[in-house]
This record gives sequence, structure tokens and C-alpha cells, in this order.
Amino acid sequence: MSEKELCQTAVAMLDRAYCPYSHFPVGAALECGDGTVFTGCNVENAAYGVAICAERTAMTKAVSEGHRDFVRIAIAGKSENFCVPCGICRQMMMEFAPDMEVICLNNKGETKSFKLLELLPYGFDQSWLEK
Ligand code: THU
Repeated sequence: MSEKELCQTAVAMLDRAYCPYSHFPVGAALECGDGTVFTGCNVENAAYGVAICAERTAMTKAVSEGHRDFVRIAIAGKSENFCVPCGICRQMMMEFAPDMEVICLNNKGETKSFKLLELLPYGFDQSWLEK
């Protein structure tokens, strides 16, 4: 899938977002090494802390289907700002794919791309657990 198609897939997921509390829909499209794409949206809850971000929805779907080799993720929001991933999502990306690309979209469909390590320098991973 081209970058443009991946971004369009993330934008399409905005319609699936369940966000009655924040009114801040987010859509994500995660591409894996073999080209498989997993989608996600944010899913909120009346108990606010239960909410899950679009990115983690997509990553959880991927891992549970046997895909851990994330290559890139497109993240779409509806605001003027580029929709960058939260810290928890960055950390979850770090677990599986420190070299992945993160493509952030704004409401005009413009993109700003980062390497994950730019967004999460000195990210914690398994190596830090070694003595
Ligand atoms: N959210 C995401 O899904 N991804 C992000 O990158 C930023 C935040 C969601 C969480 C919550 O449902 C809403 O956006 C407002 O924070």
C-alpha cells in the first residue's frame, strides 16, 4: 500500500472512533513487514481511564494476529495540529519496532513524518532490564 493509501485508510477510520467524552476522533492504519495493514480507532468509556487510543487498538490487533514487525503507522485526527501519538502509544511502538516510521496527519490531510526514536529518545526496552 502506498503512503497515500495508508493515510487514507487512517482517515477512513475516523468514522469508527467512539469518543463521546473527548469528541476527539482518531484513526490509525498500521503497516507490517509483509504489507498487512491493521486499522484502529480510539474507543472511550464512561470510566475515562479505560479509553484506548487508535494506535494501540491497531497494534493490539496486529500482535494478536501474529504481526509484530511494524513498519509504519499513519495517524489521523480532525484538528489543525498534526496528530502525534501519546507517550503510552510511543512506548508500545518501542516494544516491537523502534525503527518504525510515524506519519501524523492534520485535518487538511497534510503529513509530518518521524522516526519513532525521534519521538521517544532513550526509549525503555528489554535491554534496560539487563543488569
Ligand atoms: N488519542 C488517540 O487515540 N491517539 C492519539 O494519538 C492521541 C489521543 C485519543 C485518546 C482519547 O480518546 C482522545 O484521543 C482524546 O485524548
